[in-house]
Order: sequence, then structure tokens, then C-alpha cells
Amino acid sequence: MSSCHKAYITTPIYYVNDVPHIGHAYTTIIADMLARYSRMSGLETFFLTGTDEHGQKIEESAKARGKTPQEYADEISAKFKNLWDYFGIGYDKFIRTTDPDHMKGVQKAFEKMYANGDIYKDVYKGHYCVSCEAFFTEIQLVDGEFCPECGKPTHIVEEESYFFRLSAYQEKLLKWYDENPECILPRSKRNEVIRFVEGGLEDLSITRTSFDWGVKLPESIDDPKHVMYVWLDALMNYVTALGYGTDEALMSFWPARVHLIGKDILRFHAIYWPAFLMSLGLELPKHIAAHGWWTRDGEKMSKSKGNVIDPKEVADAYGLDNFRYFMLREVPFGGDGDFSQKALIDRINSDLGNDLGNLLNRLIGMSGKYFDGRVETSKVRDYYPEELAEVEASLANLEPLLFEMQLHRYLEELWKPLSVANKAIDTYQPWVLMKEGKEEAAMALNGLVATILAKVAVMLYPVMPQTAPKIAKALGFEIDHKSWKKLFKEGGIVESFTIEKIPPLFPRIEAPLLKQNTDLSASQAQNAKAETKKTPEKHEEGIALIGIDDFFKTSLKVGTVVKAEALPKSKKLLLLQVDVGEEKPRQIVAGIKEWYSPESLVGTQVCVVANLKPAKLMGQRSEGMLLAAKDEEGLALIRPEKPKKPGTQIG
Ligand code: MSP
Repeated sequence: MSSCHKAYITTPIYYVNDVPHIGHAYTTIIADMLARYSRMSGLETFFLTGTDEHGQKIEESAKARGKTPQEYADEISAKFKNLWDYFGIGYDKFIRTTDPDHMKGVQKAFEKMYANGDIYKDVYKGHYCVSCEAFFTEIQLVDGEFCPECGKPTHIVEEESYFFRLSAYQEKLLKWYDENPECILPRSKRNEVIRFVEGGLEDLSITRTSFDWGVKLPESIDDPKHVMYVWLDALMNYVTALGYGTDEALMSFWPARVHLIGKDILRFHAIYWPAFLMSLGLELPKHIAAHGWWTRDGEKMSKSKGNVIDPKEVADAYGLDNFRYFMLREVPFGGDGDFSQKALIDRINSDLGNDLGNLLNRLIGMSGKYFDGRVETSKVRDYYPEELAEVEASLANLEPLLFEMQLHRYLEELWKPLSVANKAIDTYQPWVLMKEGKEEAAMALNGLVATILAKVAVMLYPVMPQTAPKIAKALGFEIDHKSWKKLFKEGGIVESFTIEKIPPLFPRIEAPLLKQNTDLSASQAQNAKAETKKTPEKHEEGIALIGIDDFFKTSLKVGTVVKAEALPKSKKLLLLQVDVGEEKPRQIVAGIKEWYSPESLVGTQVCVVANLKPAKLMGQRSEGMLLAAKDEEGLALIRPEKPKKPGTQIG
């Protein structure tokens, strides 16, 4: 971020095929922090978030649940909005790509790009990944077939399509990266983008005819079988939210100060988006900041592993502000981070409890014991100029770190004044000063500690918006633009006040507050080990008996068939896409062609063995197995007696 009196800050808009998880919360919390800082520092700020609701993936997910895409989008979009409201995220607008004004704006943009010759019609042939909603060239595919981003199979699409002349923007993009060293943050990511663009850009297919759930082309183009490519639709949200193409009053907020995104969607934001903007004659964003990926206890999170972290659960257990602090402090921006309760507890007990909370307690204790709770600050400068200078030197580093998106270093630097204060108490020992009759020095020491705490509270506010005001209140002031200016910008001293005794802000946490999946699986693994050593008992009928742990080694789940097709050249096999409640449907090759037609399967439910090692059958990857029973009369699939949510565990 850099300075100018308006700031427009955005999160990505979230796909409505997944409920909010910790990765979404991370992006949103960072954006919220930046927006809060921006407001506090007096900038007119507009903070945008929302949901991305069109595309084949959403259409298929809705179908699998027996809902219309709109019903499904309404349901999941509300989940995001409710969670952000529950978290007190201070967005100014929650945009949905199904909003009529957004769709009008996208059509206007299409019209404009078409009119200026940047869009043309041709035939597209290529490999498409539905999960990533992205095309790949032959050489980009893994094993000639699988998506290089998510590993799922791609399929060949050959259809009439409108193209955006991305290739025409290669040089202009390179010039932009070159002239704006901070346009992509962290800077290392900018180099990756430059290398990619230097490798050559192909024109981009920006419409589809194979499904309906998308923004139609503008009437002036009159080609009703096409809908727009989701990424064109989605990226445009950043300007349609400001009224682009409809009521443009808010366009004064453009260009964005920062688009906050995850590293997985950098290509779309750092290449396609600036090229679209150039074509539309709009200014380019000041910064595109890409953060890293969160794992859990060292593992990638996925629904099938059951290790996805629900941000609400963590915030409820550990406190929302503590969770925010942890996320921003724990990982260098741009790097990947690992979530573990241990790391979270360490941060709470150590940084927050010991360094910050205890300092406040010490101040409450000292002023209560010696001065009836009164904190006088008029003599701080006379007694402790060196400590104050040290504090100011650290504070001076904060804004540059924030503007460079070095958020973990921002917090690291913000903690230095706390150690100055703790050290000052240990060095000057107020109890000794009091004994020696140096009351004024002891009083000024209290004033120094209070001033440091006040400054830290102000700068901590964007990260901990509930806790920092509590500290400020105990110190007799409020956090707002005025106090920010005085205590941070002008290096001021807090006014004298009578301290309010408040209960400890960060009670020590001794043990994890949430049930840990990993511990559970570790004990299961141990049981399993013990079990295998024993010789299995035999049932009367000669079948080996197993323990319940053995049974639960098989993960059985309810799935809904979202797509089914015959495998050419195979008499027995069908190729199915089965939704088992994960981000993407599983591809399963099933030997049931003799008994079931593909059409009869779509929309029906099946039971899936969900933890089988993937195998290749007739060149197709198979990621599970269906349960079925076969006798002389043929084969019957085993299905739940009543419809159950995809992904429901069986057992
Ligand atoms: N709809 C697109 C964005 C369009 S913006 C014009 C999209 N949506 S998403 O819901 O899949 O992801 C949204 C954001 O969540 C991305 O920034 C992504 O990086 C972030 N995260 C999703 N999982 C994550 C982790 N496990 N860790 C960190 N962030 C990740 O992409």
C-alpha cells in the first residue's frame, strides 16, 4: 500500500462450491486488517468481498445436490456473509456475481473489448479442467492428461468460442511489471509472473457454449448460446462493485490500492486482469498481494482427510482476536503456513500473555500499589528520553512494513516497544525507586509503560480490533484517527489518567481446546499396530473376525453421481464423476456398464470406498470404488435408503 487519500481493498470473491475454511478466513482477515489500518489513518476506504457464483463447477455441484444453481449459490453465499458478519469483518460491500448490476457491468466490459477489437470469434480446442475452470496446453498437462494445478483429469473441449487477444498485451504487461516493482507483492512472486509472461501468452478463450450457468453475452453481440468464462466474470467484480457500467459514482475509488489473493490465483490477477483493464482503458491496481497456503499439522487440508479447519470453531475456542493475531504473526506473508493448536497456544501464552498482557498487569499492579491507580505522564520525557527514542525508532518502521505487506514483521517490530517497557521496569525497579523516595521517577516510569502500551494498542488495533480498544479503555483513551495521529504519527505521550483494573486479557492456555484429529489418528494407528500382531480369531463359518478399528480403516461414504459416460472401447466400464462432499467430484471407473446406462446413474446416490489408492483403468484414473452386490441375476448398486448429503460417512 502507498499513500493517497482513498484506498480500495479487495479480497478474492469466494467460490460457492465450498463452505468457508481457514484459507478463506486468512485472506479476509488480512484484508480486514489493511482496511482497518487504512481507515484509522484517515483514508477514505472501501473494502470489498463477496462470492463467485457462476461456472460449470457450481452448476454441477448444485445439480448433484438436487438444487438450482441459484438456490445453491444463495445458500453458500449466505454462509460466507454470515461468517464474515460473525467475525465483525468491516466490509463495505459484499458482491455476488449473480447481482444484476454486476452482470450488466460485465456485459458492458465485453461490449467495449469487442468494439475495440480485442475480442474475436474462433474455434477452441484444448484441455479443460472443470475444477480449476482453466485451460491447459498439451505440454502443461501431467502425464498428458491431468491438470497441473489440481491433479484431476482434464477433458478435451472443442467448441466455438470468443477469444480475448491476450497475446497483444504481452509487451505492455512486461512494461508494467518493469516500471512498477511493487505491483506484485511479495516481490519474489513478481519474478515468477515475469518469467511466465516472457514465455509467451496465448489468446484466451472467454466464452463457453457447453453449459448455461453464466453471464450471457451483451444483446448487441446477439449470440445467445455463449456464456462468459467465469474468470472474466469474476475478475470484473472489482470494478462492477464500484458501479462500472451502471452507476459509476464509486469509480473514484479505482484503481484498487491492493487486491489481496492467494498464490494459487496469481496468474489470473497478475496477467489476465491487468490485460482486461488495459483493454478497457482503466488504470491498473497499485498492488496485487499474494499470500501462501495453509496446511494443517504439516498436511494439505482436504475434506477426505477430515482435517479441514473450521475458522469459526477455532475463533470460538481461542478467541477471534487471538486467532487473527496468530494467522498474521505466524507466517511470513507469501510463505506457506502450518496450523497447529500447539503453535496457536504458544503465540497466545507467550507473545500475547507474557509480553503484552503481563505488561498491562504490571502497570495495573504498580499504579494501584503506589499511586491509587493514578498514572501521571507529564514527566516521562524528562526521565526516560532514551527509552522513548527507542520506541519511536521501532514505530517508524511499521508503515513501510505494512505497505510492503510484511505483516509478520510489522507485528514483530510492534513487539519491540513492549520489551523496552518490560526492560525498563526490570532496570529501574519501581519498588526500589519508591523505597529510595524517588516517587517522581517511579510515577514517570508508570507513565512510560502506559505510553508504550497505548502506542502498541493503537497499532495493534487493525489486527486485534476487539482487544486493543479494551487496553485503550483501561488506559483512559479511545482508538481513533485522533489518537493514531497523536500517539503514532506525532510521537505523543498518553494523557494522565486513572487506570481501570481489567481482568487478564490472555488467560494462560494449558492444553488444546479442540479435539485434535491428528491425535485421534495417531492412537488409531497404534491400536491398528497392536491388532495386527495378534492372529485373527475365526468365526464359526471360518471367516476371520476383525476388530472395529479394522473395519474403520475403510472409509465408506455416500456419493452422488454428477456425471456418467461410457468408456469407449470398453464393454464393462463406465467413467463416473461422483461427489463425495469434497472440493471436486471423484473420478471413478466402475465395471457396471452391463447393468446400468450412464443416463440412469446421473443424480443417483451410491456408496463409495473413499480411501482406496487411486488406480488406472483403461488409461483413466480411478479414485474410489462403488459398493455393489452381484448374484446370478446380475449386479445391483448399494444405495442409501433415503437421500443423504454427499460425503456422509457410512458405518
Ligand atoms: N473464485 C476464485 C477467486 C476469484 S477472484 C476474482 C477462487 N475462489 S476460492 O474460494 O477457491 O479461493 C479464494 C481464496 O482462498 C484464494 O485466495 C485462495 O488462495 C484462498 N485459499 C483457499 N484455500 C487456502 C488454503 N488452504 N490456504 C490459504 N489460502 C487458501 O479462487
